[in-house]
Amino acid sequence: MILELKGIYKNYQQGKMSVPVLKDVNFSMEEGEYVAIMGPSGSGKTTLMNIIGCLDKPTEGSFSLDGQDILTCSENDMSDLRLNKIGFVFQSFHLLPRQSALANVELPLNYAKVAKKERRERALKALERVGLADRVDFLPNQLSGGQMQRVAIARAIVNNPKLLLADEPTGALDSKSGAQVMELFQSLNDEGVTVLMITHDADIAAHAKRVVTIRDGELKEKEVK
Ligand SMILES: Nc1ncnc2c1ncn2[C@@H]1O[C@H](COP(=O)(O)OP(=O)(O)O)[C@@H](O)[C@H]1O
Ligand SMILES: [Mg+2]
Repeated sequence: MILELKGIYKNYQQGKMSVPVLKDVNFSMEEGEYVAIMGPSGSGKTTLMNIIGCLDKPTEGSFSLDGQDILTCSENDMSDLRLNKIGFVFQSFHLLPRQSALANVELPLNYAKVAKKERRERALKALERVGLADRVDFLPNQLSGGQMQRVAIARAIVNNPKLLLADEPTGALDSKSGAQVMELFQSLNDEGVTVLMITHDADIAAHAKRVVTIRDGELKEKEVK
């Protein structure tokens, strides 16, 4: 099991009120799976992704990632986990605007203190992997949305993460670029990358092998293909 959540609750504090957002979420993934979590806006998807991505802790419940109990982790442990085990893809790409595609992809390797030459080689390879070998020196604003998202995917995989986490990865893309991103996720999964994708879009969710739905903070397994 690459990850396991048991009895997860998340409340947000709104003034004096504690607002429940995740309610008794139980969810696990095996290594190599490709799963989509699908739910309408406001259902708690990003809140759940933030917990699975070790960006936030639940109010209650247990969560283990790659055999490690997350609830006992310090902030430092959490940031090490994010760096070494998880690749993130966001709806709005989150690229540094003044840095080239190559520099953006090298970024996680900088944090991981990889030497410059290896950094460059691995970042180039990741950009090749996403079909952007001819765009390495371009700035984000010289790229299309689909290309920016592929740079972000190269950045997400450059550290060979155990888990690729994507929150609405096609949400800002036209349908053709979205389809390219879905093809890329499929081929990465075929190569053994565990993929967890979060979306409100049933057509996008259908690309995953297992779809789980979330509604008002409650998770339900939907289908197994
Ligand atoms: N930091 C926060 N503080 C208070 N409420 C929040 C916070 N983040 C999210 N929420 C609330 O939690 C609910 C779920 O939000 P979110 O996880 O972003 O949903 P989704 O990603 O499915 O659209 C929403 O009602 C939202 O207003
Ligand atoms: Mg969201």
